[in-house]
Amino acid sequence: MNQKPFIALDFPTWEETSYFLGLFHESLNVKVGMELYLQNGPIIIEKLLSKDHRIFLDLKLHDIPNTVYGAMKGLAQYDLELLNVHAAGGTAMMEKALEGLEAGSSSGRSRTKLIAVTQLTSTSEMQMREEQLIPRSIDDSVLHYASLAKQSGLHGVVCSPHEAALIREHCGEDFLRVTPGIRLSQDEKGDQHRVTTPEKAKELGSSVIVVGRSITKAVDPRQAYEQVVKEWGAIE
Ligand code: C5P
Repeated sequence: MNQKPFIALDFPTWEETSYFLGLFHESLNVKVGMELYLQNGPIIIEKLLSKDHRIFLDLKLHDIPNTVYGAMKGLAQYDLELLNVHAAGGTAMMEKALEGLEAGSSSGRSRTKLIAVTQLTSTSEMQMREEQLIPRSIDDSVLHYASLAKQSGLHGVVCSPHEAALIREHCGEDFLRVTPGIRLSQDEKGDQHRVTTPEKAKELGSSVIVVGRSITKAVDPRQAYEQVVKEWGAIE
């Protein structure tokens, strides 16, 4: 997997997505989340693949192990870079997710990396304590989920750049730290709580960054993307 930033295509329709992608003249790393996928279906994946974009399908699956197994088995037919589940679904669910991915791929060995969401980057420590009843620090919770994901055989986690170094220290350099919550210094935080710039994310130990509104809502998305790439220092 190359290290270019993944652009979060949080659009409701293919028309808007296609207009946005038309601003670029190269194949991109893109993230398809529930907004685009659930309103348009798997055809979105086929369209993006046919234009040589590389996809992180961010569906954050969280269900009983058998259901997640079936969903992953079906998704394995697509040539995706990344897929994810919620670590809160537990080790049995994560193991079955991986099994489904292998079972559904034609060679029996998927090249897609499966990662787990730890705590959403929009979650604050206060919310975690008061709503999830987890009386620990965000770092403890994220590290615990990352350890469970590693134990289940997953390839990495989605976390905030602030937790990346801790995870690298405990789970190793090869265990991916995929980090949303990225903002250019001039941008608004929006609903995200734990944010940093691309440059800072790199310094903090992210392996892959995901950037949405800082690019998609910019006055000049192409220029914003170039700024992100420059700060992040992406290499092919
Ligand atoms: O617009 P923004 O850069 O905040 O978008 C971040 C993207 O990453 C969104 O598509 C969001 O769903 C996703 N994401 C996240 N936090 C996670 C996992 C995914 O923000 N833990």
